[in-house]
Amino acid sequence: MQNLLVTGGAGFIGANFVHYMLATYPDLRVVVFDKLTYAGRTENLAPVAQHPNFAFVQGDICNLAQVQAAVAQDQIDTIVNFAAESHVDRSILDPDAFVQTDVYGVYVLCEVTRTLGLQRLHHVSTDEVYGPIPTGKFREDDRFLPTSPYAASKASGELIALSYFRTYGIPLTITRGVNTYGPYQYPEKAIPLFITNALDDLPLPVYGDGQQVRDRLYVSDHARAIDVVLRRGVLGEAYNVAADMEQTNLTVAQMIVAALGKPQSLIQFVKDRPAHDVRYALDASKLHALGWQPQVDFATGFAQTVQWYREQEAWWRPIKSGDYLAYYRQQYVER
Ligand code: NAD
Ligand code: DAU
Repeated sequence: MQNLLVTGGAGFIGANFVHYMLATYPDLRVVVFDKLTYAGRTENLAPVAQHPNFAFVQGDICNLAQVQAAVAQDQIDTIVNFAAESHVDRSILDPDAFVQTDVYGVYVLCEVTRTLGLQRLHHVSTDEVYGPIPTGKFREDDRFLPTSPYAASKASGELIALSYFRTYGIPLTITRGVNTYGPYQYPEKAIPLFITNALDDLPLPVYGDGQQVRDRLYVSDHARAIDVVLRRGVLGEAYNVAADMEQTNLTVAQMIVAALGKPQSLIQFVKDRPAHDVRYALDASKLHALGWQPQVDFATGFAQTVQWYREQEAWWRPIKSGDYLAYYRQQYVER
């Protein structure tokens, strides 16, 4: 791996991955290819913008010619695909872009990998492809039963990619990560939304009774997991990425108001997400066997994340100053 194309690298996990790879591998060249949707922000790449081994291309993974041109121009040998519509609530209101990017866009990347003979396509997927699991943990060969249009589009994209491995033998690996948090996460997702609302003494909208459980992984651990699979993963295989740090949403909301010295009365229970998955949990022993373990426990990652949003108002305030949650008001009304 010498020339890496990171699709969706201007988003939350992609940008953190780019920071990590450039800091870790001095000889690696990294090109970010990103459409710059509402979630893609060049500010996320500011720490590496002047790096001699970094370049940025604006483009759409659904556009075959654009991806081919980017691959040819920089002699790309490896693609890591983070590009996606990623927010469940938006998918419930308007699934169109999810089917485009998360399914058709993955097909385009598979086609480019096949026709241009790339060394690797790594596809970043999610625990949501398995659907909810009230008790126990999913393993990689368990069936897919996704709930939301987002989860179904991610499952479909994976199935296209796996068909390209089986039919054409493209050099594919997949990771399925759990709920990830940390710096640069767009403040529509629960943790950054709750932190930035609490900083402004605004309500923290907890869906339903707040008893849904998520396993929460710090973003640098997610980035390292992808790097480990790029280097040591077996072609055609998927790897679960889990932190084993489960909490309910209500617990996280309570921790946030406590950490910021705000009253618990800021927590407001609102109308539940339709078909809200009660719990996700993954068994990551297959990835542990490659030598990966999470390094950041929830207490540490949580404290770092709260501190980052405290210090980076200049990053999030412009996002929140517009009507960025217009979609949200259509769907959720306070009880
Ligand atoms: P994000 O929404 O923050 O970023 C997505 C990025 O993709 C943005 O930069 C956006 O501009 C770009 N993009 C969207 N459509 C595109 C297109 N058609 N062409 C090119 N670029 C496009 O998402 P994230 O939270 O960083 O998630 C990254 C990936 O990881 C996604 O595939 C997501 O499904 C997966 N994932 C996320 C989590 C999580 O908790 N955030 C957990 C597991 C897996
Ligand atoms: O589990 C992996 C997935 O995690 C990724 O594949 C998705 O891209 C990512 O968005 C995330 O999905 P979730 O739906 O779990 O994340 P979100 O932050 O939207 O919600 C986390 C939990 O908090 C979920 O149970 C819904 C709840 N929630 C969310 C919001 C935005 C609330 O209670 N209130 C809120 O305002």
